[in-house]
Amino acid sequence: MQVTASTTFSDLLQEVERFWTPLPDKPEETAERILSALWSTACGAPVSADRALPASLPELDGESLGRLLGLIERKKAGVPLAHLTERQTFLGIDLLASREALIPRKETEILGRAALVKIGCMAKKRGPLLVVDVCTGSGNLASAYAYYEPQARVCASDLSPEAIELAKRNVEFLGLAKRVELRVGDLLEPFESPEFVGRCDLLSCNPPYISTAKVKQMHPEISQHEPQAAFNGGAFGVSILMKLVKNAPRFLRPGGWLGFEVGHGQGAGLARQLERNPAFAAVETYSDPGGEIRAILAKSRPVLP
Ligand SMILES: C[S@@+](CC[C@H](N)C(=O)[O-])C[C@H]1O[C@@H](n2cnc3c(N)ncnc32)[C@H](O)[C@@H]1O
Repeated sequence: MQVTASTTFSDLLQEVERFWTPLPDKPEETAERILSALWSTACGAPVSADRALPASLPELDGESLGRLLGLIERKKAGVPLAHLTERQTFLGIDLLASREALIPRKETEILGRAALVKIGCMAKKRGPLLVVDVCTGSGNLASAYAYYEPQARVCASDLSPEAIELAKRNVEFLGLAKRVELRVGDLLEPFESPEFVGRCDLLSCNPPYISTAKVKQMHPEISQHEPQAAFNGGAFGVSILMKLVKNAPRFLRPGGWLGFEVGHGQGAGLARQLERNPAFAAVETYSDPGGEIRAILAKSRPVLP
């Protein structure tokens, strides 16, 4: 596009609107917020779509205008906004985002909020807590637990060393490194020790849960820029979830909670399965505004007196 010194927000907005298509799992990314976030980033003050407000944008000079046009071109070419700004907001916390791990999604806030309520109640009753988050990716859930509950010690893991590198940068960025420990490994394997077995107050997981066939059909902004390992849950999408449900009870203390995110159409079947599982005493489901179950919490059976 032709740009002059008088190029305004509304001119650039028209340009963004020409190529922008809404993505269902990134509802916060409107054309206006995308442009505002890129504008702030070009001025050296990167913000997420959630934080981007057209009303309070800094002045553009020649150099920052050049950077902004470059960022708009990269967005138009399909690069995710969070990779351009290197920021994503999750449960009100500003995190670093990069290609190394999944960009935290709004839908995962359903699990995060439900888990935080349990963590808050347990901390009030019992004091210091041990919380484990597996498949932690960028460390978004682990960071939120430690950020909002000062009595929580959080241990988190991921199979991907790259994701753990980003998670480490995030806990440093948030000043949480003393209470969030990060490990690389397969699901619960990094926690196979007396320190964790039978001792976790809350065990959370947002696993890959998309079937292999559907992963191939995902929007190119997702499939070409975010790690495949963050999505692929095997032939039926639930292989990692099934392994988690099988192994989690051994790690929970009596009365502790298992919480995990589920994909569209998976919730009712998984909740029924947990209700039949003698290791769990109570099962709670949490739905999105459309009524779709997106998170399940199950309470480990307390030891009978
Ligand atoms: C859907 S992403 C979730 C990331 C993050 N918790 C979030 O909410 O944005 C799933 C994560 O699980 C990790 N993963 C996949 N298979 C795993 C396994 N067997 N053990 C541990 N982590 C695994 C992936 O590397 C990815 O970071």
